[in-house]
Amino acid sequence: GETVHIPNANFSFQGIFGTYDRASAQRGFQVYSQVCAACHSMQLLSYRNLTELGLTPAQVAAIASQVQVQDGPNDEGQMFERPGRPSDRFHSPFPNPQAARAANNGALPPDLSLMAKAREGGANYIYALLTGYADPPAGMVMGDGMNYNRYFAGNQIAMARPLNPDQVEYADHTPATVENMAHDVATFLQWAAEPELEIRRAMGVKIVIFLTFLAGIAYAVKRRVWANAH
Ligand code: HEM
Repeated sequence: GETVHIPNANFSFQGIFGTYDRASAQRGFQVYSQVCAACHSMQLLSYRNLTELGLTPAQVAAIASQVQVQDGPNDEGQMFERPGRPSDRFHSPFPNPQAARAANNGALPPDLSLMAKAREGGANYIYALLTGYADPPAGMVMGDGMNYNRYFAGNQIAMARPLNPDQVEYADHTPATVENMAHDVATFLQWAAEPELEIRRAMGVKIVIFLTFLAGIAYAVKRRVWANAH
């Protein structure tokens, strides 16, 4: 198919001094849990990771306790269910890929843990995909249950438009437009895929400062050593 240009959605984490917008990432977690988590797992994340986004341990414990987790065997050799704990991984919507496909018309909703790294364009692609639904161009033959999307490879995606206006209600009164929800969930997914980005960048800046300083010393030493060479 033709290559589609993915627009830049202007995220706070772009550029060498970029950092994650914590409020946006928290809203993005809300979008993930209230919308995307119905179909998409995030198996690499644990609830306790959310403290890195500024949630308190009590908030994290409350979120984790809302899911039921299979555990066991206990002393009697029985499997049992218990409320989730902060150390548990995010609850998956389906027990296995077969069940996931069965519920999605044969298509597999991919795990979103590393999605922001898995696709060319990263968070910009996720934003474009979520805001890229439209009517198919006249004459385009659509597969059964498929949806037209400007940015999906081949333009036919099994995922129906997941975001509609006011789908979530934000506690901070950010208007829940499709664009805002897409921006927030893309921020959350970028953080999930690359939580170490800020530390890595801070280290890079320190290294550049150090190397600049070292180059200055090397130059001063060189001038002194060669001062009397004619
Ligand atoms: C695929 C994100 C909600 C079902 C995808 C992909 C992404 C994504 C990034 C991969 C696209 C690609 O391969 O390039 C999201 C986000 C959601 C969301 C951020 C919430 C805002 C949902 C929901 C469902 C769903 C609620 C089910 C009702 C699927 C399916 C696919 C998919 C079946 C595979 C599509 C295909 O390969 O044709 N989604 N999704 N998604 N999603 Fe979602």
